[in-house]
Amino acid sequence: MQRLADKVAIITGAAQGIGAAFARGLAAEGAKVVIADVGDGTETANSIIRANGSAIYVKTDVSSPEQVKALVEKTIAEYGKVDILVNNAAIFAKLGAKKFSDISSAEFDQVMAINVRGPFECAKAVTPAMIANGGGKIVNIASSTVFKGVPDLLHYVSSKGAVVAMTRCLARELGGHKINVNAIAPGLTMSDGVLGQPDYTPEYITNNMNGRALKRKQVPEDLVGAMVFLCSSDSDFMTGQTMAVDGGNVMH
Ligand SMILES: NC(=O)c1ccc[n+]([C@@H]2O[C@H](COP(=O)([O-])OP(=O)(O)OC[C@H]3O[C@@H](n4cnc5c(N)ncnc54)[C@H](O)[C@@H]3O)[C@@H](O)[C@H]2O)c1
Repeated sequence: MQRLADKVAIITGAAQGIGAAFARGLAAEGAKVVIADVGDGTETANSIIRANGSAIYVKTDVSSPEQVKALVEKTIAEYGKVDILVNNAAIFAKLGAKKFSDISSAEFDQVMAINVRGPFECAKAVTPAMIANGGGKIVNIASSTVFKGVPDLLHYVSSKGAVVAMTRCLARELGGHKINVNAIAPGLTMSDGVLGQPDYTPEYITNNMNGRALKRKQVPEDLVGAMVFLCSSDSDFMTGQTMAVDGGNVMH
């Protein structure tokens, strides 16, 4: 029995990396998937269709309220409703490590526009459709860096701290509409973004891995089980929570 049969899920940043694994994982559980990405999500959509799933790609910059509105309109035109929103799109690996005093105001604002205002714009745009439909699930992607205060990435870590806070505020505001809002905090994950970034040296990855209770590299697929749980009726009485899925590195 597929746990997300007939559900419609929008997943931002799903052209590659962790978002693509979420898209494939939710589709395997029966969800119709909308891949919303500023980059090309055609191949992710096609891989789902080849596996007998249903998916479309809608080019979207999550920091643009107009494009996010068009994304929700296209989803409803194609699939008739929205049950699930996964706020996964973010700028991360390409930021590189730098001291907080070397982060420009422009870069700080860009990170906040995508990583914080993006999930806000998407939540705002999908909730009328979820309310009309009698409920829904929103899952935000935070980061375990929030609980460690990782240095040399202040803008990114601060943006993910805001995602944890936003998850709690949205859970309180939307609970009356039967919309559950939770977050997943991944540990360092071998996504396309991380693998393509030379700053993540083998030494850095090994050091990170050694801080875990479960001492191995984390891959995008490690996050899919928690995501399916938070999108399914199994988590119907859980909201406002942030689940760390990082091999037992942070424990909160
Ligand atoms: N990989 C990790 O180690 C790690 C750890 C903790 C949290 N995370 C979080 O997981 C999520 C996915 O990370 P990843 O490593 O797979 O990243 P990635 O760089 O591999 O993929 C990110 C995707 O988001 C898209 N994107 C970027 N800006 C966008 C925008 N403005 N609008 C729409 N799409 C946009 C990119 O085009 C890309 O397809 C992010 O929220 C990231 O912060 C990642």
